[in-house]
Amino acid sequence: MNDGARARNSNGSAYGRPQPHPDEELVRVGAGTPMGELFRRYWLPVGISSDLGARPVKVRILGEDLVLFRDLKGRPGLLYSRCMHRGTTLFYGHVEDEGIRCCYHGWLFGVDGTCLDQPCEPEHGRRRDLARQPWYPVAERYGLIFAYMGPPERQPVLPRYDILEDIAADDAIVPTQGGAQTGDQTVPVAPYSWLHLNDNVMDPYHVWVLHSTFSGPQFANEFQLPPEKADFFRAEQGVCYSIIRQMEDGRVFNRVSSFMMPSLMSVPATRDIVDARSTRVAWIVPIDDAHFTTYSTGKVKPGQAPFQLVYHGGKLWHAMTEDEHQDHPGDFEAQAGQGAISLHSEEHLATSDRGIAMMRRMLKEQMKVVANGGDPLGVAFEEKDAMVRVPSGNFFKARSAAE
Ligand code: FES
Ligand SMILES: [Fe+2]
Repeated sequence: MNDGARARNSNGSAYGRPQPHPDEELVRVGAGTPMGELFRRYWLPVGISSDLGARPVKVRILGEDLVLFRDLKGRPGLLYSRCMHRGTTLFYGHVEDEGIRCCYHGWLFGVDGTCLDQPCEPEHGRRRDLARQPWYPVAERYGLIFAYMGPPERQPVLPRYDILEDIAADDAIVPTQGGAQTGDQTVPVAPYSWLHLNDNVMDPYHVWVLHSTFSGPQFANEFQLPPEKADFFRAEQGVCYSIIRQMEDGRVFNRVSSFMMPSLMSVPATRDIVDARSTRVAWIVPIDDAHFTTYSTGKVKPGQAPFQLVYHGGKLWHAMTEDEHQDHPGDFEAQAGQGAISLHSEEHLATSDRGIAMMRRMLKEQMKVVANGGDPLGVAFEEKDAMVRVPSGNFFKARSAAE
């Protein structure tokens, strides 16, 4: 220990403090990293079905640059963006009945990467059947397009979520992208680590402080009461919290929220709270180590407006001034304030962070399972096992019934 560090230890001075660092294993998502390999064992959303027309779109996910398109027969495809011929991007390709044609020399690739035409070659490419553009399987459900980016022999079935299967006649399933960090879908990308939001999902105390008292009410009035009792428990696919609040009208408000492997959440309604199960599932999708987007899908009643968080003065997040962001911070400010990648060596997790500790422990355990050749929690290989039960909801009981 040098003199500076010694001085700091005696009076807490910032001088000489140790070099901080992130928990690398938790935050890195590139191919070949332990967390990157864990993520690649799950289906992850890469687009909204109804948004994908004949124009290819760029997808950056887990540090990989890809191009998503739909051929004129309606099949979605997800290919590595650099054309295998001489490397230009397929983003400038045009879609046709059978696939996407590269702008540069016209090689045509099917949704599974098969090379179907090489127009500058003799006989349109005598050996074209040996060429294959790197590709990933995709599938559509609940209005979203999902990709599986892992080892082909370990591809699981696409999960179903019980809260999205139980659809009333007048319900619609409405997917959205972005906004989980601002409540404002005009801001689809967050410029910081996916783990910041993952942690936030298992953090019921910030709902009371950040969203309900410190910044003025951003959520329903029910959250202005502090959590009276908080339980954190492991569920089938992840970690849940269960919060109890005694309401002034004599009811007991029990809020259950869920994290599911590897970065899913089902957060029950935060305004217009009624006794009901959660109606949405959302995915935190890493773009790379220091950026993410979110996709969400769920049940919406006719005429129900999409969720948008209204901040102080009735503004959406993107319309707030710098002063307003400082006076009335929300999730974005708190999470961006942790830095692009958090410095975990400087954290002091406390009792209120139990859910976060459990969630991170589960991620670490499951990274080991994958590294040792196993299949991680929550993947299923047969349709009969595809259904996931989501425990989340806002539940009310009369006080005597709850005791
Ligand atoms: S670079 Fe794509 S066909 Fe030549
Ligand atoms: Fe929040």
